[in-house]
Amino acid sequence: MNDATRGTGGPGDGTRAVRAGLPEPVKHEPTLPGPVFAAHFHLPGDPTGPYTYGRDENPTWTLLERAIGELEAPGRDDVEALVFASGMAAISAVLFSQLRAGDAVVLPDDGYQALPLARAQLEAYGIEVRTAPTGGDAQLEVLDGAKLLWIETPSNPGLDVCDVRRLADAAHAQGALVAVDNTLATPLGQRPLELGADFAVASGTKQLTGHGDVLLGYVTGHDAGAMAAVRRWRKIVGAIPGPMEAWLAHRSIATLQLRVERQNTTALRLAEALRERPEVTGLRYPGLPDDPSHKIASQQMRRYGCVVSFTLPSRERADRFLDALRLVDDATSFGGVRSTAERRGRWGGDAVAEGFVRFSVGAEDSEDLIADVLRALDVTAD
Ligand SMILES: Cc1ncc(COP(=O)(O)O)c(C=O)c1O
Repeated sequence: MNDATRGTGGPGDGTRAVRAGLPEPVKHEPTLPGPVFAAHFHLPGDPTGPYTYGRDENPTWTLLERAIGELEAPGRDDVEALVFASGMAAISAVLFSQLRAGDAVVLPDDGYQALPLARAQLEAYGIEVRTAPTGGDAQLEVLDGAKLLWIETPSNPGLDVCDVRRLADAAHAQGALVAVDNTLATPLGQRPLELGADFAVASGTKQLTGHGDVLLGYVTGHDAGAMAAVRRWRKIVGAIPGPMEAWLAHRSIATLQLRVERQNTTALRLAEALRERPEVTGLRYPGLPDDPSHKIASQQMRRYGCVVSFTLPSRERADRFLDALRLVDDATSFGGVRSTAERRGRWGGDAVAEGFVRFSVGAEDSEDLIADVLRALDVTAD
């Protein structure tokens, strides 16, 4: 990638990632202080912050939240970041802190497969839920009178993209808040707050931390009132990350630019190689110039992610292909340094063909990974 990675000026993404959230140097102290394990903090007298009780605040979160805020909103000091125990904890915190009985919310109908669970819960609380596909900005059609618009772009697993600025402008014109799930792109690939969103929300379990060993979520936003409600929700529900997870996440962010660069470059190469294969249909990667998502993606994304989706002729063929791979683990999730792939239909939650494969490209050498994929396709040919 080139100077696009520099965005609006200032240091490049690699520089920002390695320094994100670090405290001012203190003689004899480490660069990134270790995890602070504390359920409570010494607190004589009136209970004033910043650190009182471990469900409310923790110094290890503070540094991580600073790092995430710097990446999602470089140069802005009005943006707050809050970390959570998982991506779903972060998503739920926004939905359930902002919506009340009688409100309407617009969700994507092709988003992460736990969203329908959230939908059922919202409806049980008397909140009207409308859904529409991500592609073609179809959520615009059902926006009228909604309190919150929830966008997931690129969508998981279909990799459709919508025009965040267009949707955000339409939502704001009628007083709705806008949240964008930025999991797949990471803040180095897309900055929803700059595109007009009120919240950028993500699962840090994926490429943000990238080693498949941590569950994490975060919410960033610039509306102090809305963020106060999200913080209050975190306190009520207690969906907080452990200090060890928070520290591991911060440590991992130092290599975010390296990982993203390597993984996303190989993802494009893999997509190009798959395009040549007759047994592959429905190939999607927003970075491919002829992908239906590419035009909008190229306007609002700085990098296109590490996930490639495609369909093999049958469920059996997809299973045999996954089994034949040597460098790719058959596992769910995505974004890790070790490639993973799965037949997504096995979960039953996504509207995908039986042979649909979601492939998450890791940090292996491109040549090795692509050779492994092509070999696995060859040896499983009917
Ligand atoms: C787009 C997206 N959002 C949210 C989540 C939920 O994240 P977590 O598993 O950390 O709760 C996922 C998980 O796969 C996801 O893909």
